[in-house]
Amino acid sequence: MAKPIRKAVFPVAGLGTRFLPATKAIPKEMLPIIDRPLIQYAVDEAREAGIEQLIFVTGRGKTSIVEHFDHAFELEATMTGRDKSLDVLEPTRIQPGNLVTVRQQVPMGLGHAIWCARAIVGDEPFAIFLPDELMIAHAAGHPSGSTGCMKQMVEAYEEVGGNLISVLEVPEEEVSSYGVIAPGRRGLGRDGALTEVTALVEKPKREEAPSNLIISGRYILQPEVMRVLENQGKGAGGEIQLTDAMARMIGQQPFHAVTFAGRRFDCGSKAGFVEATLTLALEREDMADDVRAIMQKLA
Ligand code: UTP
Repeated sequence: MAKPIRKAVFPVAGLGTRFLPATKAIPKEMLPIIDRPLIQYAVDEAREAGIEQLIFVTGRGKTSIVEHFDHAFELEATMTGRDKSLDVLEPTRIQPGNLVTVRQQVPMGLGHAIWCARAIVGDEPFAIFLPDELMIAHAAGHPSGSTGCMKQMVEAYEEVGGNLISVLEVPEEEVSSYGVIAPGRRGLGRDGALTEVTALVEKPKREEAPSNLIISGRYILQPEVMRVLENQGKGAGGEIQLTDAMARMIGQQPFHAVTFAGRRFDCGSKAGFVEATLTLALEREDMADDVRAIMQKLA
């Protein structure tokens, strides 16, 4: 039987240059979609999937991410003194010992960030979350179900084991900005959402792309990837690429892609961030009417 997924790595050491100057002193992962920072959505998704041990790969200027999940003594004492409920802080509570940070001193790429967590990951399969890719489950009652992305991946992992990445289809002209898979057999797994992966390419030219299925910020990987990363040189953009390391694992271990039944927002881009904010605001009972009225006025 496959070992359960208990640990998740959150690489949050990037510079967030596309959001400057907002991200000069605030980490990109702390930018809120409505009233929750991006990192909170990712942590909630991990917990829904049964993952409790959180490993943050951080860098300079990122301490507020860790503070977000700490006890805020003055705030809580003051709120309690004013008879205000602390329920709103519930998602920020972490069992002592379940949050570990490791520093990536220089942002040398996603692959390098993951490798920085090798001692904490140890000899177990683990999940990876890129918090700027916001994966939102369908609303309750949707015909495709309303489970989060990582939970869907963990369920698939229990069927096929090995390595899994989440993918989604994009228009062909967009493939050159992403990691792209070469698909093998499709429609596998209990609900047909699994595709065999035969190769991976980071940021291919449009005419050389093996498909329009892009890797979308969620992974379940076997610990052997750390040893591959160890010996790997720089790839696209002069960075140590996770995609290159994963590509070298294909053929040695099972490798599948999961098409997420849900919605994905690229919150690393400004337009994607606004789209996520509007979409989620329109789904919130406490503000949907107001936001709809504003949108009608603007339109
Ligand atoms: P991105 O390239 O999307 O993020 O990396 P970035 O570098 O922070 O943002 P821009 O492009 O300059 O605006 C994807 C994820 O990998 C992490 C980032 O924090 C983000 O979550 N990352 C990237 C690292 O942790 N270390 C790195 O060296 C690079």
